[in-house]
Amino acid sequence: MDRFVRSKDHLKSIKTHLQSSDFDTILPLAAEIKDWAAEMPDYFPEGSNQKPSAATAEIWVNFDGFKQAAKVHYDAADRLISAATSKDLDATIDAFSATAATCKSCHQTFRLD
Ligand code: HEC
Repeated sequence: MDRFVRSKDHLKSIKTHLQSSDFDTILPLAAEIKDWAAEMPDYFPEGSNQKPSAATAEIWVNFDGFKQAAKVHYDAADRLISAATSKDLDATIDAFSATAATCKSCHQTFRLD
């Protein structure tokens, strides 16, 4: 749960750094988001949706779907890293929006509101 909060903080910082085209600061933040995406499925052992968790039981009904959502998020973060590495502002903004969208789409199915 703490790592989700860190991802959220990183997204916010990335947004700020985009305004100043500060690609060097964006890179490590995007890398951390991507690392967490890769490990995410390992952090949800069956039945770990006890309080205070907001995870839905749907995660284990459809664990492949959950892994897929984590993978889509991982790929989006990966594109964000490539775009920031090439210092292409438009591509970085696009990849940033795509990454944020993958957070939302997983929450819609797998997180209580
Ligand atoms: C593959 C699915 C998935 C993806 C992708 C995902 N999340 Fe989540 N997120 C969850 C689930 C499930 C929970 C509930 C975890 C729990 O409470 O045990 C959660 C919880 C959270 C929380 C609340 C943490 C807390 O302290 O209760 C925040 C904030 C959050 N996510 C932000 C993000 C952000 C930002 C991204 C994208 C950078 C993201 N998430 C991507 C599934 C996902």
